[in-house]
Amino acid sequence: MAKGLLGIEDLSRPEIEAILDRARSFQPAQGETFPRLDTLRGRTIVNLFFENSTRTRTSFEIAAKRLGADTLSITASGSSVSKGESLVDTLNTLVAMRPDAIVMRHSASGAPHFLSRYLATPIVNAGDGTHEHPTQALLDARTILDLRETLEGLKVAIIGDIAHSRVARSNIHLLSKFGSEIVLCGPAPLLPVELGQLASGVALTNDIRDAIRDADVIMMLRVQLERQHEANFPAGDYFKFYGLRLDHLALAKPNVLVMHPGPINRGREISSDVADSQRSVILNQVENGVAVRMAVLEKILKQ
Ligand code: NCD
Repeated sequence: MAKGLLGIEDLSRPEIEAILDRARSFQPAQGETFPRLDTLRGRTIVNLFFENSTRTRTSFEIAAKRLGADTLSITASGSSVSKGESLVDTLNTLVAMRPDAIVMRHSASGAPHFLSRYLATPIVNAGDGTHEHPTQALLDARTILDLRETLEGLKVAIIGDIAHSRVARSNIHLLSKFGSEIVLCGPAPLLPVELGQLASGVALTNDIRDAIRDADVIMMLRVQLERQHEANFPAGDYFKFYGLRLDHLALAKPNVLVMHPGPINRGREISSDVADSQRSVILNQVENGVAVRMAVLEKILKQ
């Protein structure tokens, strides 16, 4: 890994495996909490979030604290960004205070990549526009591998607003490096054909039943209303064609895993009975987020 973690596209399969293995060592035993270590004692990690977040920000904060680092979180609404300061000026200001790493979420695709070219401080991408969300794909892989031997040969259906999803892009990069069979599914305006060329082993369909048939894993995505500039689908129509219902699961492998990066919109992209079913691993994903982010922060900052 270079200076920070910007995307899955830049990582090799052995680098990804090393992070996933290390994350496993941080997973708590049943009924316990994450280990409290002092690997990063004396280090300061700044979480800089220009977009809303519940899971990712909390998870990075807990991960950093569990490794003994000091953390502080800044949100755009409470910062000088709302006073008109440019992104570069905000970052230069923070860097002048000598944090050891910056975890950053921004609505512009490529923002962390651009900044990392100018700053010596390592940047961890916590989601950039519609581009990448590397720690989400890592925690998704950790979650699947907790329950399946390998990613190779698994049929993974990714369903929903593919066009605007950084989660889909990072997962396509990761899963294709491990030989999964990926099927992307969504309504035509939200399923750009170019995504079929992003990696090998990617197929596209507009039919949710085709996507789910024989799937080992179903990843549902939220409709990214904040990134859509076209007319929206009414929620009811969207759910009728692209919402995951309990009866769909009969088409998939009997032990199919249902995933969602959250936040979920019940009745829009997933029914409540599926989200709360035995097949759902949505909260396992959240839990694994902490272990994976501990592994990432340790790798970036440990000397
Ligand atoms: C995702 C994100 O922000 O990209 N959420 C997350 O980090 N768990 C997905 C989403 O917002 O729909």
